[in-house]
Amino acid sequence: MSLPPKPPAREGRASLPALIRLFRRDILSALPERLYRAKMADFRTPFFRSCLINEAALWRLVLNERPEDFPKSNRIRAGLEPLLGRSVFVTNGAEWRRQRRIIDPAFEGGRLRDTFPAMLAASQAACARMARAAGRGPVEVEEQMSHAAADVIFRTLFSVPIEDETAAEVFRAFRAHQATQPILNLAAFLPLPRWFPRFHRRETLRTAGHIRALIAAMTEARARDIAAGRAPDDLATKIMTTPDPEDGKPFDTAEMVDQVAIFFLAGHETSASALAWTLYLIAGDDALQDRLAAEAETTLGDSPAFADASRLILARDTFREALRLYPPVPMMVRETTKPETFRNRALKPGTQIVISPWHLGRHTRLWENPDAFCPGRWQTGEGRKAAREGFIPFSSGPRVCTGAGFAMLEGPLMLAMLARRLRFAPIPGAVPEPVARLTVRARHGIRLAVSAR
Ligand code: HEM
Repeated sequence: MSLPPKPPAREGRASLPALIRLFRRDILSALPERLYRAKMADFRTPFFRSCLINEAALWRLVLNERPEDFPKSNRIRAGLEPLLGRSVFVTNGAEWRRQRRIIDPAFEGGRLRDTFPAMLAASQAACARMARAAGRGPVEVEEQMSHAAADVIFRTLFSVPIEDETAAEVFRAFRAHQATQPILNLAAFLPLPRWFPRFHRRETLRTAGHIRALIAAMTEARARDIAAGRAPDDLATKIMTTPDPEDGKPFDTAEMVDQVAIFFLAGHETSASALAWTLYLIAGDDALQDRLAAEAETTLGDSPAFADASRLILARDTFREALRLYPPVPMMVRETTKPETFRNRALKPGTQIVISPWHLGRHTRLWENPDAFCPGRWQTGEGRKAAREGFIPFSSGPRVCTGAGFAMLEGPLMLAMLARRLRFAPIPGAVPEPVARLTVRARHGIRLAVSAR
């Protein structure tokens, strides 16, 4: 059982300016240690009040039982608007419900089966790329997994691999966009006054505009192919041809651009983060890698099929354990719309409610050895019980991640394929430092020694 890196938590109190400095550096280490054991914690300043809730009854209330009373705040939308427009990730109410009615059927179980060949092809391409990179020395696995996850998205959404000219350009433009991105979490967690400089640097607007223009070109081309009856049967076609069961209208091209932007962002950043941390975690454990390789060999055989993927039990438990320790979306923020009472404390309308998969996944009241990497816990009663109270890497309730099933097919499959072909080892002294960027990443990347098995 190993203890993988965890950012040191803040000790003691901090003034508001000190807190802002700490948040700018990294939200995970800016927060106090007590959040790993608290049921609920309040943050009050002259400007705002935020409330982090770790108790299952409370996060269920917010996410599952009364989600309409706790919408996403407009500040989050303002921050993401240049790239995402009015995509399903940022809308609320009737607009959001309509979007989910159109999108959800594309991600149902039956449709997932259709995405399997594309995921398999992307996994094979990822193995080949990783093997080539290994020949040149230590491998930056975050970069490799970003490439692989972007490939999965393009193949499943638009039936083109990442080598396609426009797909490759979106990927490049997206990396440039991220480099300009201010720390989104800061504004989400700390509703600072409006004058506080945070969003929409000129470069952020420019790179977002570039990505959207590329996505618009792909979407318009697809609309023409659908009209001409020559479109492939992939996720983009499915979503663009599904009418809203209530008003009978499908997305128009502009609405679809917003949705493609979020599928690309939410779909590749998150899976890439989870897979990179998974590789780091298994790199410290040769015996586990042998078992993963053996499982992949016997389960997937020479021509893997969709049904085989559900039998990758160890790969799934390992991937879940990585999601527990390094949830790609470390925190989610909602806002109260009316007076509420949480654990006998009165909350005014406009209070920020923070739900933290990061703290829940390492909560000392829920998990045995919470900071230890232990895939075996997923086969125990205690592990499953803790998961019901504190494992929500994909959120929960009606706003649960649309791509949860997709990601739980992609992650274990990619892991199994990589472990079958390659061996991963840590590089002495190169311990990654987790930080919350758009997702949980390593401050200086994750480098591993990779060799053929
Ligand atoms: C390991 C991979 C992934 C993780 C951990 C993850 C996590 C999450 C979380 C926590 C949310 C809720 C955020 C919030 O409410 O503030 C979310 C929403 C979302 N995710 Fe994922 N995600 C993953 C992969 C994907 C994939 C592959 C796709 C699509 C192809 C996707 C599409 C979305 C969309 C569209 C939403 C917005 C849903 C809504 O607000 O109604 N995600 N995801």
